[in-house]
Amino acid sequence: MRRKLAAGNWKMNGTAANLAELEALKALLPANAPEVLICPPAPLLFRAHEVVGDTGIQIGAQDCHSHESGAFTGDISATMVADTGATHVIVGHSERREAYEEHDSDIRKKAKAAWAAGLTAVICIGESGDDHEANNTLEIIAGQLAGSLPDATTATNTVIAYEPIWAIGTGKVPTLEQIVQVHDFIRAKIVTRFGAEIGDMIPLLYGGSVKPDNAATIFEAENVDGALVGGASLKAADFAPIIQALAAS
Ligand code: 13P
Repeated sequence: MRRKLAAGNWKMNGTAANLAELEALKALLPANAPEVLICPPAPLLFRAHEVVGDTGIQIGAQDCHSHESGAFTGDISATMVADTGATHVIVGHSERREAYEEHDSDIRKKAKAAWAAGLTAVICIGESGDDHEANNTLEIIAGQLAGSLPDATTATNTVIAYEPIWAIGTGKVPTLEQIVQVHDFIRAKIVTRFGAEIGDMIPLLYGGSVKPDNAATIFEAENVDGALVGGASLKAADFAPIIQALAAS
């Protein structure tokens, strides 16, 4: 059985006051909850870790630098992320690929830095709206997988999140058929590259406008093992039903 993961990416939203949502989420977790991960802004990592305590909710960062330390003003290293008690770090989110011109080679280095610090890397891939319309999705995904995943990828050190850029924050969601096609394709690629023992066990998340009312349908896809949720992870009342839908899938 592959592990299931409901992950929330708060992006650049939230101050200490929003930790109350984490408190609320603790009370709403179903008894059979899958793995739950919240990635708040970096200044909240320490406190978020304290708030979740031993509830099983895991905390992650949204990015890290590929170096362990040094003269990189404004950046945070994977070692620093781990020092907060966090267990995961998102790397290669499309918002960073776009706004900071991060390329597959940068993301591969960040994933390795995450592993070296003992963190699980949540590696994001996804095609643009233009590539989607031009039917280039599988080609783009194949390139990102080949370039972003280090050779030493395992089912414990890595989670892959497929987030079509045109679906992020837009309310547009691919059809279940499209999600199945891309996730089956990713599964086949990683099984070919890493072997069935690893490739069959790496959790694959879908991300992009996942909401309480569409989560159950998305989780019907055999190779969707969870979700990376933006907007709907900010409020416990929205995220809890998504966690419940995953638990029931
Ligand atoms: P939304 O759920 O707000 O579309 O964001 C998805 C995302 O980018 C998560 O990383």
